[in-house]
Amino acid sequence: MKQLTHYLVGGAVRDALLGLPVHEKDWVVVGHTAEEMLTLGFTPVGKDFPVFLHPKTKDEYALARTERKAGHGYHGFEIHAHPSVSLEEDLLRRDLTINAMARTPGGALVDPYGGLEDLKARILRHVSPAFAEDPLRVLRVARFAARFHWLGFRVAPETVALMRSLSTATELLSIAPERLWQETQKALTEPDPQVYFQVLEDCGALRILFPELAALRGVPQPKLYHPEIDTLEHQYLALKIAAQLNADTPTRFAVLVHDLGKGLTPESAWPQHINHEIKGLPLIKQLGKRLRVPRQYLELGLTMSQWHTHVHRALELRPNTIHKLFKGTDALRRPERFEQLLVACTADARGRTGYEERPYPQADYLRLALAAAQNIDIPALRERFEGPELGAAIGQARIHKLKEFKQAWPDKLP
Ligand code: CTP
Repeated sequence: MKQLTHYLVGGAVRDALLGLPVHEKDWVVVGHTAEEMLTLGFTPVGKDFPVFLHPKTKDEYALARTERKAGHGYHGFEIHAHPSVSLEEDLLRRDLTINAMARTPGGALVDPYGGLEDLKARILRHVSPAFAEDPLRVLRVARFAARFHWLGFRVAPETVALMRSLSTATELLSIAPERLWQETQKALTEPDPQVYFQVLEDCGALRILFPELAALRGVPQPKLYHPEIDTLEHQYLALKIAAQLNADTPTRFAVLVHDLGKGLTPESAWPQHINHEIKGLPLIKQLGKRLRVPRQYLELGLTMSQWHTHVHRALELRPNTIHKLFKGTDALRRPERFEQLLVACTADARGRTGYEERPYPQADYLRLALAAAQNIDIPALRERFEGPELGAAIGQARIHKLKEFKQAWPDKLP
């Protein structure tokens, strides 16, 4: 059996050159057939592409291939994997120049499309017109922009232009909802998730993929509370702060959708947005259904939309209303989700021009208020009441604790 001719490719080559940790290694195999791979003990994976797992390392080894588009959208591919396909041909069909470099087993860089130069210049540039064969790449570029923004990366103008030409409903809506969510969910985990949505907006993809968000562009908010005025700008700022706060991904999603209701305000009512908290709920459900957003994300998004104004007004709320907030958000049974809500609200409050560093005492206030409301003697109440009366007595006991707590504030600040 001849020796396997293989090259390290993709993210591993890119990340090493950026000085970043390499998480997984992908390899391209040149000059071999699938049968030879099986004889060498590799396990085939996936039904669409000729990809194999190494028997020991479990790294992915793909046969060099070219792809040709045979139809519209994401599904219309013809894969051509053959021992005659060269490394350069395989790299040519890849998305970005910084992703289209390879290393020989001896460690030499193979870089036929200027990847290293673009990496040094911090440019995300498509390799060739073959980019257009896969509309998912519009989202991938936006995601890489979100990931590498802190390093100074920008999308090349000619790539933005190509992404714009791909940003039609026919192309983008052909992407399976699961893939759309997968890219979006990954983008939300990146250090600058707001850049994902900004890049999608710049190339015209946002209005097709996230019309509920795109509708916020140009919608004004009161200047006194929102110096940035524009509601979509506020969304981006809040998302940026959520990432800086190291918020988990569902919390970032909740920040993303919490003001969708403002897109429904009639122009005559601008810049006020009465009841946007409730008006946004059907929009969040609609977006969630379209993208198959997991329940955990969706529930937090809905809770955030409905209750964020209450949280912001926490210090003025009467004990009864705080209790209502705890019941409405299920805070007493699900304190970990309430904590996510508080982080999302902190990001919302700071996601305003000039407010980025402001303290947000509401969060600690409600953390301590929740602890106070939990601190009641339920077994003692059980001895005296049962059924609906027990429920009412527990509620009263909690409200009493909240009254005491409110009177003692601000001595309780940690
Ligand atoms: N690729 C591509 N077009 C796609 C998907 C992948 O050109 N739609 C190529 C790119 O060359 C990419 C490689 O396949 O570098 C591996 O893809 P993937 O594992 O998704 O991305 P990585 O670049 O490895 O980045 P990471 O895994 O760190 O997200």
